[in-house]
Amino acid sequence: MATAARQTSIAPNDLEAYWMGFTANRAFKKAPRLIARAKDMHYFTTDGRKLIDGTAGLWCCNAGHNREPIVEAIQRQAAELDYAPAFQCAHPQAFELANRISALAPADLDHVFFCNSGSEAVDTALKVALAYHAVRGEAARTRLIGRERGYHGVGFGGISVGGIVANRKLFGTLLAGVDHLPATYDRANQAFTKGEPEYGAHFADELERIVALHDASTIAAVIVEPMAGSTGVLPAPKGYLQRLRAICDKYGILLILDEVITGFGRLGFPFAAERYGVVPDIMTFAKGVTSGTVPMGGVVVRKPVYDAFMRGPEHVVELFHGYTYSAHPLACAAGLATLDLYRREKLFERAYQLEAKFADAAMSLKGLPTVLDIRTVGLTAGIDLASQPDGVGKRAYAAMERAFHDQEIMIRVTGETIALTPPLIVSETEIGEIFDKVGKVIRAVA
Ligand SMILES: Cc1ncc(COP(=O)(O)O)c(C=O)c1O
Repeated sequence: MATAARQTSIAPNDLEAYWMGFTANRAFKKAPRLIARAKDMHYFTTDGRKLIDGTAGLWCCNAGHNREPIVEAIQRQAAELDYAPAFQCAHPQAFELANRISALAPADLDHVFFCNSGSEAVDTALKVALAYHAVRGEAARTRLIGRERGYHGVGFGGISVGGIVANRKLFGTLLAGVDHLPATYDRANQAFTKGEPEYGAHFADELERIVALHDASTIAAVIVEPMAGSTGVLPAPKGYLQRLRAICDKYGILLILDEVITGFGRLGFPFAAERYGVVPDIMTFAKGVTSGTVPMGGVVVRKPVYDAFMRGPEHVVELFHGYTYSAHPLACAAGLATLDLYRREKLFERAYQLEAKFADAAMSLKGLPTVLDIRTVGLTAGIDLASQPDGVGKRAYAAMERAFHDQEIMIRVTGETIALTPPLIVSETEIGEIFDKVGKVIRAVA
């Protein structure tokens, strides 16, 4: 009887049950933005409208949507091997993908630890940094240094080193012993810059102040994004990352670059580390590794970091860390096919070549009402709008709604900033279309 009752009681398919992350749930559910399918540069809504994707999903679909080689690789893998234990066991594609990623990464960043998201990658990186010092006999190095306005996902480690107040303020005391560098943004000296601003390398020198306060012997690592993305597109000032690297070297502090957004071509290189000629000790990745098709993240470490753990009896686990779905077969298949596609279509080079056109198109919106600043780097642009008198974020939110419902374009907004990060397959005509539509949106909400 109970079974029969269950079979007939079909759940209502309304919007209520799903509590959406980083979403204004009540406003969304009044005017939903529902996507049914996607292809290349476009999304298609459930009511059949075609939207150009100005955001590569969430900065992740770098190869464009539903690309056949990736779809087919995932389908083949699903039919072949659904899952293999990730601890004390593995499958060949995991090694193949690790080799491919380490070949793309600069210098001796040559060992890859897999996980399933950017947040897990960040927590993995922080744990590896702490454990690295401990296994080398410097266990007092426990402090982690992040940056104001930094975004490193939503794990407790990530929000502790992150610097976006709304992501932190409701969640208790967070990790102890964390300090923050200042953000690198100063509108008065940087407004409307294409690429890396001339002004601001000195913000890295604040690390000297932090070292003087806490002593280097207590500091494990510094973590920054090469370009702060989620806070509103803040490219690193010229020379900033190099200076940070030099200060870390001076004091034996590990440098972690969080490349979750900047990895896999966003800034015209496999990793931003290469663009800036800076080799971090640890680098995170996620998003673009599978072009957003299957969740995957990871951490790449330099050889000395890996080697530091490879001691003691050989039957003993060297790092007590890992995830059930680390190097999941579907993610590995998607990753391998994605990297093949990036190489075959030279998509990183394409991003590099399109950067100047993209920046010019973005700057064409300078002078529109309410536009306070525009920043660009690689295939990324941030456009700051002036807040309405009745609430911060209202204008940008209205812009997102107008974009989706009226202008047939997917944009991302954070605070009062519009962020544009299209798939790397975007054409010059589509770049024009994106900024034309965004211009109309900005005028409409002015
Ligand atoms: C720099 C950076 N780190 C970490 C993350 C977290 O990634 P995920 O949402 O996959 O956990 C993000 C997400 O946007 C990010 O931009």
